[in-house]
Amino acid sequence: MRLITQVPGNGTQLADAPHSGHEKVRIVRAMVIPAHGPPEVLEYCEVPDPAPGPGEVLIRVAFAGVNFTDVRNRRGDGLGIPPMIPGIEVAGVVTGVGPGVADLAEGTAVTALTGGHSYAEMVACDARRVLPLPPGLVGDPVSATVMGVLPSALNLLRVAARARPDETMLIHGASGGVGTALVQAAAVLGLGPVHGTVSSPAKLQYAERYGFDGVHLRDGFVESLHAATGGRGVDVIFDPIGGEVRAHSFAALAPLGRLIHFGNASLEPEVVPPAVDLRARGLGYVGYSGGQHALFEFEAVRRTWIEALELVESGRVTIEVTRVLGLADAAEAHRLIESRSAVGKIVLAVD
Ligand SMILES: NC(=O)c1ccc[n+]([C@@H]2O[C@H](COP(=O)([O-])OP(=O)(O)OC[C@H]3O[C@@H](n4cnc5c(N)ncnc54)[C@H](OP(=O)(O)O)[C@@H]3O)[C@@H](O)[C@H]2O)c1
Repeated sequence: MRLITQVPGNGTQLADAPHSGHEKVRIVRAMVIPAHGPPEVLEYCEVPDPAPGPGEVLIRVAFAGVNFTDVRNRRGDGLGIPPMIPGIEVAGVVTGVGPGVADLAEGTAVTALTGGHSYAEMVACDARRVLPLPPGLVGDPVSATVMGVLPSALNLLRVAARARPDETMLIHGASGGVGTALVQAAAVLGLGPVHGTVSSPAKLQYAERYGFDGVHLRDGFVESLHAATGGRGVDVIFDPIGGEVRAHSFAALAPLGRLIHFGNASLEPEVVPPAVDLRARGLGYVGYSGGQHALFEFEAVRRTWIEALELVESGRVTIEVTRVLGLADAAEAHRLIESRSAVGKIVLAVD
């Protein structure tokens, strides 16, 4: 197994560290993106053991959630710069506490939105992004994926769409992690009716289990939505796909509707609708990024992390982990997402 000595954000550079021969060189295993490329670039490596800095805790990772953003960081259409360890969310146990952390102790089972470095045996993380796990979720793979898609869904509905009761909504990518969280979050908030679109009959069957008022095949969705709404169209559309899907979506919006864009999975050029068209029908075109939102309103976003944990613990929202793979099989997890074969969430089991 290759030893990678320089992974930014992951401890000291071993090559430069003083090493008398008597010291124990502390290493852990991790999946590293050494360079942008296909899933095969992911490499199971030994890396420096991270240490918790001020305000951080060290977590021994039990499970790491796999997200679309990890795929983007690997491919090169995200913000990540190799060499890097992907992964933004984990569950595990606190094994170290940095200076200034008062409310988390060693031995506490936690879930965390780490922001990076999570496909690893150990990760250091800002303690404000770490929540103690209720006993019922400890050891459950879903514990690693509570703070990602569901808080995004809650904020997409409340902050980005400012959705009102009785507004009709449409969710593209209805069988995915965010899609299945969005329809359930809408039910919790008393919003809807909610429709969804998917790319295949198998995904349609999967999505239908989540309480949509209608799930439609992507082909011909504008006509299907007009048929389902008596020709009016929908008030709010959530679109993580972009390209042709987004361009057609404007035709499915009712007057005064809003199109919320929060991803561009298609990799097609970003859609920029003419302002005059938006004005003519009173349409809104609103962007959302959970990562950026936490920079603007940290405490408000932190409250949605706590809310999401309570919703999952109480069973009011189900986040289904459809595959659990080993850490060394991270490339397979990426293949499943990129080939659009995945539904629900994929989690890596680390220990
Ligand atoms: N802005 C934010 O805060 C935020 C937060 C989380 C996620 N996201 C974005 O939201 C999107 C969905 O995330 P997720 O966690 O729900 O991912 P996911 O579970 O992998 O779902 C992605 C969905 O996108 C659809 N899709 C369309 N074109 C695709 C393509 N070329 N490759 C792969 N999937 C494609 C797939 O549905 P069909 O096959 O039915 O089209 C799939 O269900 C991603 O674009 C992600 O970057 C944004």
